[in-house]
Amino acid sequence: MQAHHAELIRRSFDQIAPAAEHAAALFYRTLFEQSPELRPLFRGDLGSQGRRLMEMIGAAVRLLDHPQSLLPVLAQLGTRHAGYGVQPGDYRKVGQALITTLAEALGDDFDDATREAWSAMYTLVSTTMVAAANADRRAA
Ligand code: HEM
Repeated sequence: MQAHHAELIRRSFDQIAPAAEHAAALFYRTLFEQSPELRPLFRGDLGSQGRRLMEMIGAAVRLLDHPQSLLPVLAQLGTRHAGYGVQPGDYRKVGQALITTLAEALGDDFDDATREAWSAMYTLVSTTMVAAANADRRAA
């Protein structure tokens, strides 16, 4: 993550925030088209799940300047995800669906720099979540 990434992510998130429900629905449609094997992991209502996902991404966006307070939250989120049956390799699939969704939602505004910024943030978030899940697995 570089300093200018935060600005690009904030700007594009603000653009999709007014249509967050639509973006969340588009995300799940894309994810289950690209990776249908993940569908059975989601047991709850996808509408409220989608809102939580957008809220979480929103919180991550706001906390970009304060990674030290974000890291423990992400570690706990990673531990819970292991409990949902999520495997480390699934993060790549979800990252791909996220990038496809952003590209569709933002159109021409999703330029190379913005794509790179989101990829860097997703890598940071997912490696933190996976590292926490792995640490728990080793401790168990
Ligand atoms: C950046 C990565 C991710 C973020 C920010 C994220 C965020 C969230 C949030 C906020 C929840 C609500 C429940 C909770 O707080 O524990 C949740 C639930 C869940 N997530 Fe994720 N998630 C991510 C990656 C993934 C990946 C890679 C998968 C793999 C398929 C996944 C599958 C699930 C499932 C199955 C649930 C429970 C839903 C249910 O019971 O219906 N997530 N996620």
